[in-house]
Amino acid sequence: MITKIKTILQILYRKPQYFEDGMISIHLSNFRKDPKFVKAKQISLKRTGASEDIDWRLHVFLWAAKTCSKLNGDFIECGVNTGFLCRACVEFLDWDNLGKTMYLIDTFEGIPVELVTEKEKKINKQYLNPKGYKGTYSSVKQAFQGIDNIRIIKGKVPSCLGEVKSEKIAFMSIDMNSVVAEIGALEYFWDKIVEGGMIVLDDYGYSPKYLEQRLAIDQWASKQGVDILSVATGQGLILKSKNK
Ligand SMILES: C[S@@+](CC[C@H](N)C(=O)[O-])C[C@H]1O[C@@H](n2cnc3c(N)ncnc32)[C@H](O)[C@@H]1O
Repeated sequence: MITKIKTILQILYRKPQYFEDGMISIHLSNFRKDPKFVKAKQISLKRTGASEDIDWRLHVFLWAAKTCSKLNGDFIECGVNTGFLCRACVEFLDWDNLGKTMYLIDTFEGIPVELVTEKEKKINKQYLNPKGYKGTYSSVKQAFQGIDNIRIIKGKVPSCLGEVKSEKIAFMSIDMNSVVAEIGALEYFWDKIVEGGMIVLDDYGYSPKYLEQRLAIDQWASKQGVDILSVATGQGLILKSKNK
């Protein structure tokens, strides 16, 4: 109780540095002043037409992507929508000179109804009549035009994953809001993730909306013997370490 009161007082007396995307924090968010970060975000917003205010999530994503860019292996995103995160990523990294392929995988027509579980339908009514995430295939193609080694795969995860020809993956982003698809992607790619590679799970901390995903991913992680970092942004972070 005392620590809660202390935290409330800190927030009241010290101006919160960060106040968006489900988070209030008095801690430094200096990354927002980094010219490379600002440029990557602005170009991505412009090219993808997205309207995202998720700076801390973007920071975690770009940090992981940059760290993994030094490894031998390709990049994958399952769940692309407008491509906001990955478009910022290619801008933030010196992508054209990395010699890697980035796979962008999505139905581009929203979450496939047949993959939504009964529990998901009960928790989150949006699944019963999914309106969002449709028709972004051509805009994503345009947003990434002129950038080297981008492969856009239009298909349903997990059944389309055989189209990814890479055997070494350095970085993966999973953001599909769907338990069957996310577990399918983890199971399919886990053995291909190189040592030191990372997976960013965008929906990991979102409860109750994506609770079924969280429970299933925790079960998968304990089977694999890996620990997932819960980030205050709602993301989960997995590091593939030696012997995993
Ligand atoms: C939250 S959005 C992704 C946002 C994206 N990461 C960004 O940077 O803006 C979720 C996406 O997952 C896709 N999706 C959901 N289930 C899928 C599945 N089984 N196969 C392929 N794509 C799927 C949806 O079409 C939607 O575009």
